[in-house]
Amino acid sequence: MASSASRPLLIIGGGLMGLAIAHELAKKGRKIEILSRRRSEAAGFVAAGMLAPHAEGLKDNLFQLGQLSLKRIPKWVQTIEEDSGINCGLKNCGIVVPFCSEENRDHHPTANHGLILNRKELEAEVPGIAAQWHTALLFNQDGQIDNRRRLMRALEKACVSLGVHFQEGVEVLDVLHEEETLQGVSIRKAEGEIEIRPCQEAVLCSGAWSNQIFQAIPIFPVKGQMMSLQGPKNALQRIVFGPGTYIVPREDGLTVIGATSEREAGFHEGLTHSGQKQLHQGIDAIIPSANRWPQMERWWGFRPCTPDEGPILGASILKGLWLATGHHRNGVLLAAITAELIAKCICKDSLNSQEQRLLKHFNWRRFKL
Ligand code: GLY
Repeated sequence: MASSASRPLLIIGGGLMGLAIAHELAKKGRKIEILSRRRSEAAGFVAAGMLAPHAEGLKDNLFQLGQLSLKRIPKWVQTIEEDSGINCGLKNCGIVVPFCSEENRDHHPTANHGLILNRKELEAEVPGIAAQWHTALLFNQDGQIDNRRRLMRALEKACVSLGVHFQEGVEVLDVLHEEETLQGVSIRKAEGEIEIRPCQEAVLCSGAWSNQIFQAIPIFPVKGQMMSLQGPKNALQRIVFGPGTYIVPREDGLTVIGATSEREAGFHEGLTHSGQKQLHQGIDAIIPSANRWPQMERWWGFRPCTPDEGPILGASILKGLWLATGHHRNGVLLAAITAELIAKCICKDSLNSQEQRLLKHFNWRRFKL
């Protein structure tokens, strides 16, 4: 058995948060091992990759956290690209949020951060936009990254190049502790053996499945169904974020359409007729002609949600166990700031007053009765 001094820090979950935190810690010289049950089910492979604190209309502390992350993303992505040699498809394309009335527009929580478009300007920004939309907000600050095809792969490669050890097909069954100190985890390996893995430090970032491993945190799945269309290459420059449906054009014209938001579905896997119908109705309501573009792929996944829809970040009740989960609709946006804050906590780096305040706010204890 490895001596305690040489034991790696365990990352429980090989999704976007796990990879981002592993990368950040490996860059600081930490020895890291990622335990992943099935990386393909990670929300990072499902999401549309929007970087959208303004279009999503985030509020209060979540908006601040989103803005902080948005600011960090260009440098974060540059580092990942340097470490991996893979371009992540970061695109500062702006997001258009259309409205039927000026009153609805002015009620959008981040309205004062956007540029008001009249109908004519909206038509110029979004060719083919449906007639019902009279006005819009353009958020030039928001953008996208090609999470499914590039960012996830780039992070995996960057982690490997920094010596991070990966174990795929490993299910973490339980977190083991003595009094209030982490002692290890019990795991079931891909081949079926059950083992105890001693460790002194671990980060729990298992997305929607987090509270199956650590029951103290209130996380539940919110299913999302998606699809993609192959649009003409320059048909659409901006993301369009309508109520219930968004349209995200990648550089090569592949256009991601999202997403249902199904709380009652639990972990029920698969596409449904009503979910897919909802996506097509959403396209009809925004850019009807896009419904004639060739359909490429349909998929689903599970957002990790908390009762207040904000993430759970930082220390847990156990010394040595850190939490980075519950990012709900904003995982891609918040990965950069999550990795930075969690790595700073673990390495005992100094945190500025805003970072301290946000970590305090997003601690799991806010859900304690
Ligand atoms: N970020 C958009 C969604 O979760 O559907």
